[in-house]
Amino acid sequence: MWRPPQKIKWKTKPGPWPSRDEASRSRLFSPLEAGPFRLATRTWVPAMVPWRATEDGFVTDDNVDWYARFAAGRPGAIVLEATGIRDVPSGPLLRIGHDRFVPGLRRIVDAVRQASGGETKLFIQLIDFLSIRRRPDPAKFLGQHLRITDRHRSALGLDDAPQEAVRQALLGLAQERLAEVLDARELEALRMGARERVTDTHLPHIRELPQVLPGLFAAAARRAREAGFDGVELHYAHAYTMASFLSALNTRDDGYGGSREGRVRLALEVFERVRAEVGADYAVGCRFLSEDCIAGGSTVDDAAHFGVAFARAGMDFLSLSRGGKFEDAKQPAIGRSAYPYTGPSGYECMPHHVSDERGPFGRNVEASARIRAAIRAAGFATPVVVAGGIHGFGQAEELLATDRADVVGFARTSLADPDWFLKVRTGHGDAVDLCIYANYCEALDEKHEEVTCQLWDRTGLDEPGLRKTKDGKRRLTPAPWVPPTA
Ligand SMILES: Cc1cc2nc3c(=O)[nH]c(=O)nc-3n(C[C@H](O)[C@H](O)[C@H](O)COP(=O)(O)O)c2cc1C
Ligand code: SF4
Repeated sequence: MWRPPQKIKWKTKPGPWPSRDEASRSRLFSPLEAGPFRLATRTWVPAMVPWRATEDGFVTDDNVDWYARFAAGRPGAIVLEATGIRDVPSGPLLRIGHDRFVPGLRRIVDAVRQASGGETKLFIQLIDFLSIRRRPDPAKFLGQHLRITDRHRSALGLDDAPQEAVRQALLGLAQERLAEVLDARELEALRMGARERVTDTHLPHIRELPQVLPGLFAAAARRAREAGFDGVELHYAHAYTMASFLSALNTRDDGYGGSREGRVRLALEVFERVRAEVGADYAVGCRFLSEDCIAGGSTVDDAAHFGVAFARAGMDFLSLSRGGKFEDAKQPAIGRSAYPYTGPSGYECMPHHVSDERGPFGRNVEASARIRAAIRAAGFATPVVVAGGIHGFGQAEELLATDRADVVGFARTSLADPDWFLKVRTGHGDAVDLCIYANYCEALDEKHEEVTCQLWDRTGLDEPGLRKTKDGKRRLTPAPWVPPTA
C-alpha cells in the first residue's frame, strides 16, 4: 500500500473516556430521528466486506455470526457489506440480485435484531461494479490474448505478416518499445489487468448502464425490504460503477457524463426508481466520495453539488467516504487483480498510522463538513455520516458538537473492538481495544481472505467449538466482552 513520503508514525490516542453518566448525556449516544431514518445513537458501523459468503453469493453461518458479533456492541447502525445487485458470479461477495438470496439475508437481519435487543438498525449497501481482469502473464497476453491489429503490424514494420509473427515480435520487445507499440488500454491490460470504464460506450452493456441500473438497484432494494433491513445504502463511492459516473473523469456524451448535472443524473435516476419501489417510509441513502483524490477526479465542490442534489431528491441519509480508486492503484502481482486501496487515493480512504503531518485520524472530516454545510445552506436537514480514522469519544463528540457531522462512522475501530460502543457508553472506555491502523485487515481484504483483526484473531484458539478461518489459524470473531461486575 502507498504511504505518504513523510512517514510520520502516529499512535492512536483516544483521550479521556466518559463516565456512564457523561456518555448518557452525550450527543454521540443520543437518538436521531429524521423521517424513516431513526437511530437510537449516532454511532455507525460502515460497510466492510469480511469475505465470508459462499462462492455463489449466499449468506453463510460465518456471515451471520459476524454481524451478530458487531450487533452485540449495540452501535446505532450497521451497514451490511457491499452486496452485488446482479445475479452474476462474483466470488464470495454477498448477492441480492435474485429472490433466492432473501432468506439468507433475513437470517442476518434476525441475528442482528436479537444480538442488539432490537436497538441496532441494519442497512445494506447495494453495489454494482464493472469487470476487472487479473494482471496476465505477459507471455500469455502477448502470445495469445491480445487482439492483433494493423496498428501493431504497422508500428512493428510487419505490414503483411501473419498474426504469429507479430506476436513473436511483440514478445521480443523491451518495455519502452512495447509502450510505443501498444495503445494505452492494451498497455493497461498488460500491466494492470484489463478494466472496463463507464466511458467505454462502444460496448453495448456499458452504453446501456443508464437504462439497466435503475431497475437492478430498485429490485435489490425491494428484496432488502423483504428481508427486513431497515434501509438501503446505495454504493456511490470508491472504484465502482456509480462513483465512476459521478467522477469528473466521466466524459460520456450521452447526457450521463461531462457536466456535474450529467454525472449526477444516473445517481438520481437510480434513487428515483428505488424510492418508487420501496416507498417513502423506507430509509434510502447513499455513500459517496467527499473527493476522488485522483488527478482530474471530482473535488469537494463537485461533492457538495451532488450532496445538495441527493438531499433535494429526498435521500434519507448521506454517508461520506473518500478516495479508493483504481486510477492510482499499484500494479498487482501477475495473476492478481488491481486493488483500489493501494495508491494515494486508497490511502485517503483507509489511512494507515504511517502518515504525513495531517495524520490518519479524521482525514475526511474537513471535506465532509464542507459538503454538509452546503447541504444545510441549501435548506436541507439530511443527516450526514462521516468516517475515516475515528476512534475516540472526544473526537466523535466534537464532530457532532461543532456541526460537522450528524452520525459518526467507526469502521476499523469496530473491527478492532465491536464492543467499543457498549464499553464507552457504560463507562468502560478503558477496556476498549483500540485499532492501531496498521491495516492488517485491509491486506486480508485485498487477498479476498476472511477479514479478521490482528488484535484478537490469534487469541483463545483452543476454545471448544470455536469457528476459525479456512486454514484453521485465526478465529473469525472476537471473544465476547464480559463487563466487570460492580
Ligand atoms: C476490511 C474492510 C472492508 C471494507 N469494505 C467496504 C465496503 O464494502 N464498502 C465500503 O463502502 N467501504 C468499505 N470499507 C471502507 C470502510 O467502510 C471505511 O470507509 C474505511 O475503513 C475508513 O474508515 P475507518 O478509518 O473508520 O476504518 C472497508 C474497509 C475495510 C477495512
Ligand atoms: S487489523 Fe485491527 S488494529 Fe489493524 S487496522 Fe485493522 S482493525 Fe485496526
